[in-house]
Amino acid sequence: MTAESIGYGIVGAGYLGKALARGLAVRPGARIVAIFDPGDAQTVATEFGARVEPTLAGLLVAADVDAVVVASPNAAHYDQVVAAARAGKHVFCEKPVALSYRDADDMIRACEAAGTIFFAGHVTTYMAGVRRAKEMIAAGLLGEITFVRAVRTTWEGHGGGHSWKKQTALSGGHLYHHIHELDLVQSLLGPATRATMVGGNVAHHHADDGDEADLLAMLLEFDGARFASLEYGSAFHWPEHHVLIQGTEGAIRLGFQGEGCTLRIPGRVEHFPLHRTPAEEESRAAFYRAGEEDASGLFGTPDTDVPLWLAGILDEETESFHRLITTGILEQEFAPLADGSAARSALATADALTLSLQERRTVDVAEVTSGHARR
Ligand SMILES: NC(=O)c1ccc[n+]([C@@H]2O[C@H](COP(=O)([O-])OP(=O)(O)OC[C@H]3O[C@@H](n4cnc5c(N)ncnc54)[C@H](O)[C@@H]3O)[C@@H](O)[C@H]2O)c1
Repeated sequence: MTAESIGYGIVGAGYLGKALARGLAVRPGARIVAIFDPGDAQTVATEFGARVEPTLAGLLVAADVDAVVVASPNAAHYDQVVAAARAGKHVFCEKPVALSYRDADDMIRACEAAGTIFFAGHVTTYMAGVRRAKEMIAAGLLGEITFVRAVRTTWEGHGGGHSWKKQTALSGGHLYHHIHELDLVQSLLGPATRATMVGGNVAHHHADDGDEADLLAMLLEFDGARFASLEYGSAFHWPEHHVLIQGTEGAIRLGFQGEGCTLRIPGRVEHFPLHRTPAEEESRAAFYRAGEEDASGLFGTPDTDVPLWLAGILDEETESFHRLITTGILEQEFAPLADGSAARSALATADALTLSLQERRTVDVAEVTSGHARR
């Protein structure tokens, strides 16, 4: 590695790996040098003039690989990130970084021990509207936040079981695979202290369906009598996707279906976009329109490209990661992505929610973080 040049290795060159490589490749001094993917690595290698590495070990010993982007199926992240850290590489890991708090903790410690960067791909953090809302909250416009409701529900038809994204052992199911909203809730309220979840698989029993729970409803408690509710799943014929932030002085609704965001305080209603440009905002609306009746076609697959809105936030995120590696600089608002706290905390709460569902009780998140409970 020189100050001028960072060589990136891509582990998993599918829908997101390809998009992250595109985001990084345009950064000054960034080069995509090696691709490992047990499926088709050649297409992405050709796009960037990179070489195909037939094994992960081969990619990790390569002297021209300074940093590794892990964008493989979720269940593969743990071994790959630990191996990358032991090989002395910086790591960008897609979400969910792991399928348990314990694994995430080990991965973060492995990078700390190696002195390498561990960066969690919680890309929602980079949405313009999310950042604007946080500025408004920091300026005191909502008073104290008392309650956040996050809803990410849709209908997915039958036959999705061929995708790893619909198999719980590989994806973790909706809660882990879509950890974004849980992470966003905790970025507003801090780590949850108590967790309750109900749900199950209510509408996907065909032989060719996946095995994930398609309806999950959650309640979270936070220090200081503050609360959140989350709804996730693919069993809902009335799709909803928004985060509603309620404060003692006002409220903000972040609309994820193309409607944008709204601040409401006494005497003032202000609309602001979720994304950077009108074209990105419109691509968000088109994305949801395309999935209005059946969103199963919206799962990314290795041969599809990300929509404009997603390319936009990946642009911000890859810029942030590359700048951190090359200059050591990271804005304070993104620090929880690089110190492990956002990923570790989201997975601790997800594990507590999972335990709650399994044991039909409210779970203290400390049961997970103290090591008394394991998934
Ligand atoms: N941030 C986001 O908004 C977002 C969106 C989609 C996916 N993701 C995440 O990106 C990651 C990849 O998802 P995707 O949508 O690109 O999936 P995908 O199915 O399109 O691509 C996965 C790729 O990984 C390859 N692969 C399979 N096993 C592997 C292994 N052991 N090692 C390396 N590569 C392997 C596959 O051949 C495939 O090319 C996942 O962690 C997913 O959760 C994030």
